[in-house]
Amino acid sequence: MASLVSHLRLSVLLLSVSLGNSASLQENFVQCLNLNSDRTFPFNPLIYTPKSPSFTSVLDSSGKNQRLLVPSTPKPKFIFTPTRDSHVQAAVICSKKLGIHLRVLSGGHDFEGVSYVSEIESPFIVVDLIKLRDINVDIKSNTAWVQAGATNGELYYRIYEKSSLHGFPAGTCTSLGIGGHITGGAYGSMVRKYGLGADNVLDAKIVDANGRILDRKAMGEDLFWAIRGGGGGSFGILLWWKVKLVPVPPTVTVFTVKKTLEQGATKLLHRWQEVAPFLDENLFIRVRIQRAQSTVTTSYEGLFLGGARKLLKIMKTSFPELGVTRKDCMETSWIKSVLYIAGFPSGTPPEVLLKGKPIAKFFFKGKSDFVRKPIPETGLEGLRQRLLVEDSPLILWSPYGGRMNQFSESDTPFPYRNGTLFISLYISLWQEGEKNVAKHIDWIGNLHNYMGAYVPSFPRGQYVNYRDLDLGINTKNNTGNIQESAWGYRYFKNNFDRLVKIKTKVDPQNVFRHEQSIPPLPK
Ligand SMILES: Cc1cc2nc3c(=O)[nH]c(=O)nc-3n(C[C@H](O)[C@H](O)[C@H](O)COP(=O)(O)OP(=O)(O)OC[C@H]3O[C@@H](n4cnc5c(N)ncnc54)[C@H](O)[C@@H]3O)c2cc1C
Ligand SMILES: *[C@@H]1O[C@H](CO)[C@@H](O)[C@H](O)[C@H]1NC(C)=O
Ligand SMILES: *[C@@H]1O[C@H](CO)[C@@H](O)[C@H](O)[C@H]1NC(C)=O
Repeated sequence: MASLVSHLRLSVLLLSVSLGNSASLQENFVQCLNLNSDRTFPFNPLIYTPKSPSFTSVLDSSGKNQRLLVPSTPKPKFIFTPTRDSHVQAAVICSKKLGIHLRVLSGGHDFEGVSYVSEIESPFIVVDLIKLRDINVDIKSNTAWVQAGATNGELYYRIYEKSSLHGFPAGTCTSLGIGGHITGGAYGSMVRKYGLGADNVLDAKIVDANGRILDRKAMGEDLFWAIRGGGGGSFGILLWWKVKLVPVPPTVTVFTVKKTLEQGATKLLHRWQEVAPFLDENLFIRVRIQRAQSTVTTSYEGLFLGGARKLLKIMKTSFPELGVTRKDCMETSWIKSVLYIAGFPSGTPPEVLLKGKPIAKFFFKGKSDFVRKPIPETGLEGLRQRLLVEDSPLILWSPYGGRMNQFSESDTPFPYRNGTLFISLYISLWQEGEKNVAKHIDWIGNLHNYMGAYVPSFPRGQYVNYRDLDLGINTKNNTGNIQESAWGYRYFKNNFDRLVKIKTKVDPQNVFRHEQSIPPLPK
């Protein structure tokens, strides 16, 4: 009997060895989580390994870039989906103890997928906050506590549930993870009136490199500055944001006016650059520039925080060239304007925002610019020609000005403020899988080079939330290669130096790291 038991033990031992690293890594991780929790918890159901039937669907959920989910990209050893704040603390402690690299994911919309793909280190695991999405709205104090795994659309919905006179100024796409979105800045159609999402944060709770939970008071003003624009995955794991709600009127007005660039609309697009950043700050008009067969269309998509009559008055004096008429305008509620601008079909109920899913799945590559001087008509003509040779390009110009001009470069890590006319987002989308990836990436690289003539070059700014690994990546685990971090100045200008100092203080061992995380200074 005894020998049978010991024989069984031996085979169990051999079995676990032969199952290889991933099984034992997972077992050790679960054991460690239990040792670091107040009481034992059934952690196994919260862990998805490549062998779990739902691994692929979990990995492929939310707004992920299909380009980074192809079989050839490195996959995590497992995905851990914590259901309590304390689980996130334990995950940080245990990944350090076991020496497994950890990536954190809220909404999964990272342009380069650094929340779920590590090109620089293996093995790695993903802590996916998808089950941490509580939202507590308090209309009396004009605030909400939002858990990092919630989407911006869920936040908008929960606010609307309590009041039709409150809103929040963040992204226009409604499936973004509040965790990753706000920490990189977060702009949307109320940016001219209320600034960035990050400008409307009052407090936060973050798990630091030692697994402690810190609120604003405990973390101090330096770290609190860094997390409001410094980008995700560098300073800790955000658990909660406390945000300030902003007033919205009972009636807002939306419109879309389309022109093809051949209809002399290059002139109009030039005029938009001179006008849109200086309009009444209740009025936001972005331009969507796309190819439609052999022509290029521009759609002027507007949101006015007020009624149609007043909007038409403003348009008549400030931007008559666009020719907006009463027929183009739809008066609606703020929450319905959110759905309209996000592109949901008319009549979609606001509850769709609770589904947290993006409208479509794509392979894509994106880049950005911050424009400070109108691009001349000759420049726009070259842009038009370039759009005509790509399958499915999208350029989105969103005006700044207004509230954005009241910030200096260093008020937050996001420096593109006073005097920035608009942000230009360039995207190429495709659905034909791994075929032609190089072609699309070349196209967008060439387009971006071309646009370089029309924007400041020292540094050539890009938006950290539109991450672009072409700007350079950290090598290995990236301790102390500040010189190579040219991307740091492009996202943050001189704020990068302050971010590095704060990083060195709060995470000298570089626990929170990825291809473009803020590096600490070497000791
Ligand atoms: C379709 C689409 C539309 C977009 N529209 C807008 C827009 O209108 N306005 C705008 O400003 N931006 C927009 N973005 C960009 C968006 O803000 C960024 O991609 C943002 O990083 C997404 O956050 P996430 O949590 O969804 O992404 P994730 O991929 O989960 O995370 C992004 C980064 O943050 C880190 N991170 C994630 N969660 C946490 C956390 N809890 N604590 C610390 N770090 C974390 C990740 O490790 C990663 O480095 C859009 C992106 C896409 C793909
Ligand atoms: C913004 O720029 C203008 C013009 O250069 C300047 O007069 C103003 O003081 C600046 N505002 C801030 C907040 O920096
Ligand atoms: C970084 O890498 C070096 C060598 O590759 C290693 O010795 C060090 O422990 C690593 N640091 C971290 C934080 O993993």
